[in-house]
Amino acid sequence: MSDRPVIRPRRLRRSPLLRDLLQRTRLSLDDFILPIFVRAGKNIHQPIASMPGVFQMSVDVALDWLDERANEGFKAYLVFGVIEREKKDAVGSAALDADNIVCQMLRAAKQAKLPMLGITDLCFCEYTDHGHCGRLTADGKTVDNDATLELLTRQAIAHARAGADIIAPSGMMDGTIGALRQGLDDSGFEDVALLSYAVKYASAFYGPFRDAADSAPGFGDRHSYQMDPGRGADEALNEVQLDLDQGADMVMVKPAMAYLDILSAVRQQVHVPVVAYHTSAEYSMIEAAAANGWIDRDRLLLESLTAIKRAGADLIISYHGQTLAKLL
Ligand code: PBG
Ligand code: ZN
Repeated sequence: MSDRPVIRPRRLRRSPLLRDLLQRTRLSLDDFILPIFVRAGKNIHQPIASMPGVFQMSVDVALDWLDERANEGFKAYLVFGVIEREKKDAVGSAALDADNIVCQMLRAAKQAKLPMLGITDLCFCEYTDHGHCGRLTADGKTVDNDATLELLTRQAIAHARAGADIIAPSGMMDGTIGALRQGLDDSGFEDVALLSYAVKYASAFYGPFRDAADSAPGFGDRHSYQMDPGRGADEALNEVQLDLDQGADMVMVKPAMAYLDILSAVRQQVHVPVVAYHTSAEYSMIEAAAANGWIDRDRLLLESLTAIKRAGADLIISYHGQTLAKLL
């Protein structure tokens, strides 16, 4: 008798109605930011080998694709430029070109009155011939922080002029947010918001992206600017605090699934929207396993994204937009 449990958590799991009633974390399409890769040309829809289902698109194709996503209910896209090899140089000059592919995309979206927010990834790795995230130091060994800040500020102003609603610097240079905020404000772009990649680890989870954006470093790695996965959450909280002090409107944690502890710690510390990046390898691992019939892709995807939201993400950057539109 006395060993019959009185408290029975299973009581609240008995039926779909009960489970539905009590569900706290629900995904919806407006939780998501959709990355796109744009490249020069017309009618281009080029598959990315390591990211099946994701394409490099010319602006015309990207515009149609985004229009479909807007009709489904998505509210924001994040644009990356794929730059022709011959336009890359040591200082990433193409990044400052007011007519580069990212600026063309932003202007085309505004002209077409696409009902989505345009977010730009602000970095130099797609534009430099060495593939690092800024201008190199004189000895060529690492990225020159302060020289890069000046370039990033000019790049940000070009994006703002072309119509960016939100700018997301991803290069992990110290002082980026302060420099950008001042540069944008001085040019009359007080209303352009800054989404800081505040907490970005030096991660193998970006592998497929570097194919997609043709942005792999030509030598070395990004360990002297991106964060070390083996350090504590306090380093992440310090990065976040520095960016908030300099005027970040939102902060990001990247990657997502392997860093839910960090995401949760950030969520508890800040009072601004927190964004998580479900990165390229997180996408590709799910797609590869699903293609082999090893997992139930849809359930695994929704479970992963629910965990990211539950850990504290207000918004999730995801390559799974089209699948999500069918599932949610
Ligand atoms: C550019 C940038 C990267 C990603 C977003 N912005 C690559 C990198 O830092 O090497 C990764 C995105 C992904 O893997 O989905 N700095
Ligand atoms: Zn970069």
